[in-house]
Parts: sequence; structure tokens; C-alpha cells
Amino acid sequence: MSGRFITFEGIDGAGKSTQIAAAVALIAGRGLQVVQTREPGGTPLAEKLRELALHEPMHLETEALVMFAARREHLAAKIEPALSAGQWVVCDRFSDATYAYQVGGRGLAADKFAVLEQWVHPHRQPDLTFLFDLDPAIAAARMAASRSEGDRFEREQADFFARVRAAYLARARDCSARFHVLDATRTPDDIQREVEEVIRERFFA
Ligand code: TYD
Repeated sequence: MSGRFITFEGIDGAGKSTQIAAAVALIAGRGLQVVQTREPGGTPLAEKLRELALHEPMHLETEALVMFAARREHLAAKIEPALSAGQWVVCDRFSDATYAYQVGGRGLAADKFAVLEQWVHPHRQPDLTFLFDLDPAIAAARMAASRSEGDRFEREQADFFARVRAAYLARARDCSARFHVLDATRTPDDIQREVEEVIRERFFA
């Protein structure tokens, strides 16, 4: 049996990292093999592209192409082989992030995003996507409390993150069958319970 592909999305500071670990533990606890990975990144080459994407100023179309170049490599070298082998893949961000950040945040034309998505993964979408939704002002306060200088995206202003958030929510409406939108202002324990419940209901009920 092919494995399942689960992704976690949200604006910077939404608090998805701790929940990813919990999801991985839940799946592994069922005796299933699970690969935890992230985008941009997940392979040595894609991690190099991540460094560029996060720290090197570039044209917005270059930025979208770098994200999809990293994704192409990641799919070929890690995600697809794992799923084919029956392993589950839990990924911190995927193409919904490109839609939210490059289309929503930066203003990339949506039809260009669609061409790249169709090119890079015509037959693959996540089986389940958690969207951690919260007000960018709350996310910014969390990041200010916990992080240093930040990368090119984390240094963006509130209006950028408001557009990213709106694009995420639009995408969740368009792809409602696979999205689960979470209120990320709740406590980590409450969120963890919801994440675990959704995974159990979707896959283990
Ligand atoms: P993130 O998962 O937030 O890394 P960290 O937790 O280490 O900060 O991802 C890095 C950044 O990359 C994040 O600000 C969103 C951005 N990003 C895009 O702009 N487009 C994409 O397609 C992806 C995958 C990420």
C-alpha cells in the first residue's frame, strides 16, 4: 500500500513545528514508517536552494522557480520513493506555501504558479493539509519573543503576512477536501489534540 502524504502550513510564527513532531510520533506509534521532512529543503541539493531562497535577494519569479526547483528534487529523491515504499511523509510546507507566499504575498501571477505546479507534480497533492491560521500580529509577537534577526520572509511586514494568510485561506476553500484549518491561537496542547484527532479520523477510523 502506498503511504500517505501530510503537510503543515501557516504564516511564520503559527507554531506548526511542535505539532509536526506530535503527528510523526502518532503515526510511528501505529507501527508505520514515517519520514519527516521540510520545504524548501529535504535533500542536500534542496537544502542548498533553501539557503539561497531564504537569504539571497532575488526577483519574485526567480523565488518561485527556486521553490519549485527544490520541490522537484525533493519529490524525486525523497517524497515519491518513500510513498511508493509504503512510508508516510510528513512535510513542513509544500506547494500551498508557494501559493500563499509567492502568489499571495509577493504578487506572482496565479496562472504562472498553476503552470509550475502542473509541471512539477501533476499527479501528486497532499492527502491532508493542516493550515495553522492566526492573526499576523499575534504571530509577529510570538516571533519577536523567540527569534533572532530572521530570514528574508520573517523580516516582512504585517501587510505581507495578511496577504499570505488570505491566500492560504482561499486555497483551503478551493481544496477543502484535503485541508483542515486550525485556530492557531489556542494552546499547544489543544492544537495537538485536534491534530491527532483529525489524523485518526481520516486514516485510522
Ligand atoms: P519555515 O518552515 O517557516 O522555516 P523556519 O521554521 O525554519 O522559519 O519556512 C521557511 C520560509 O520559506 C517561510 O518563511 C516560508 C517560505 N516559503 C515560501 O515563501 N515559499 C515556499 O514555497 C515555501 C515552501 C516556503
